[in-house]
Amino acid sequence: MVFEVQGRLIQGVLQMHDIKRRYITIALAIFILTIGWINISNMSGLPLRQSKVKPLDFPLPQKYCSVECPSSIPSSNIHQDPSSEACPEYFRWIHEDLRPWKGAGITRETIEAAKKVAHLRVIIIQGRVYIQKFKKVFQTRDIITVWGILQLLTLYPGKVPDLDLMFECNDFPVILKKDYQKGNSGYSIPPPVFHYCGDDSSFDIVFPDWSFWGWPELNIRPWEFLKRDLEQGNHVTNWLDRNPYAYWKGNTKLGLARQELIRCNVSEKQDWGARVFDMEWQNEKKRGFRTSDLAHQCDYRYKIYVEGKSWSVSEKYILGCDSMTLIIAPQFYDFFTRSLIPTLHYWPIGHKDKCNAIKFAVDWGNQNPNKAQDIGKAASKFIKEQLRMKFVYDYMFHLLNEYAKLLKYEPTIPDDAVEVCSDNMLCGARGVRKSFRIDSRVNGPANESACLLSPPFDQTTLQTFLMVKEKLIKEVEMMRQSS
Ligand SMILES: *[C@@H]1O[C@H](CO)[C@@H](O)[C@H](O)[C@H]1NC(C)=O
Ligand SMILES: *[C@@H]1O[C@H](CO)[C@@H](O)[C@H](O)[C@H]1NC(C)=O
Repeated sequence: MVFEVQGRLIQGVLQMHDIKRRYITIALAIFILTIGWINISNMSGLPLRQSKVKPLDFPLPQKYCSVECPSSIPSSNIHQDPSSEACPEYFRWIHEDLRPWKGAGITRETIEAAKKVAHLRVIIIQGRVYIQKFKKVFQTRDIITVWGILQLLTLYPGKVPDLDLMFECNDFPVILKKDYQKGNSGYSIPPPVFHYCGDDSSFDIVFPDWSFWGWPELNIRPWEFLKRDLEQGNHVTNWLDRNPYAYWKGNTKLGLARQELIRCNVSEKQDWGARVFDMEWQNEKKRGFRTSDLAHQCDYRYKIYVEGKSWSVSEKYILGCDSMTLIIAPQFYDFFTRSLIPTLHYWPIGHKDKCNAIKFAVDWGNQNPNKAQDIGKAASKFIKEQLRMKFVYDYMFHLLNEYAKLLKYEPTIPDDAVEVCSDNMLCGARGVRKSFRIDSRVNGPANESACLLSPPFDQTTLQTFLMVKEKLIKEVEMMRQSS
């Protein structure tokens, strides 16, 4: 049965020249898929060991910040409700990310091996959070990640098991498959490392990045608020009244693909339909970020997503507009992006011949405004419904629960670990860091249980899904070449 459907699917994909039929294929595919620094010693509010460390955020001498973590942790009387809604499709990648440890489990030795790359260790014992810091982290990514975990514990008290987690907070995946290759047959067991993105050549376990709780250094608000702004921003300009071009704005210095994208900018000689703008964050900062106001970037019919150094947190902001997103073939994924489907949620652009590909997409959209709008709307609907903050927490919840099942030992508190809680993290913060924490704070237990996690993909279905995605990308490219 699956094969029959699959055969029809692929044949269908090959024959298609009509977007409508492509939708049917995608619906089918979905159908079969649905069956089938800052020094840590200061974070505790302990006195600064070295006054050379500038007290940016946390570190506040104890006399100013003597809040102690609560002595008792509330528990929740909400039980997993078997009639809860199913989790979004992308949650199923949790099983894929944890697959390397499914057989042997995670031993203390396996974890300890992650120390050489990790920035941060988070230990959760009976609802209390302890951290150990190994290396300095860019900006405050690590602190915000810890803040997010604390909020998760408030949302689902008593429901997050004891854990021992290693986090790597830089841009690129760090646990490379090639380093664990055993002959031609499989891999040895890699250290489990949580990271904000992954790619096909790494074993990093994907975890929601800090930006969901706000990015104070860039004045990007917590996701819940920004998401609302984006939804309103979508109503400001009717799609047909938007600029009929593909818009991108960001730091052009990050990554080759962005350098290449600049060449597609409009010039006196050429118009590829792209409007590309450089953003100097330092200048933006001085100007109070007015021009970078993300919710006011929905006034182009098309928006471009291009990776920077690795994944970019901007993807959710870009897809959140009703404008059709042109995604330049990404290498990296974050936790929700693997379930996005080309021509349903976005228009794929290859690395070769980028400028022409952008022009083709823009021309196609301007000639097929209804279809282009459908693609834009499918993406903003995905972001609006499936990337609600509740689901970000649910994703963390299920990921951590599935991970805990693999632990072969009982986590213990390392000697030099310090306890953190929302109260002591709030009390030490100032300015925008503080206001983002107040805004993103979870104030009490959830009134509903987490969504229901679907079982792993069966491998045939997963391969089919990946194949369908590839075919759709190829098909768009063929359409362009024959145009
Ligand atoms: C792209 O072209 C526009 C219009 O000429 C210009 O304002 C903008 O600065 C250019 N972008 C870059 C990155 O050079
Ligand atoms: C749960 O419900 C109560 C009462 O309706 C409300 O005050 C509280 O904010 C809700 N909690 C969450 C996390 O939504």
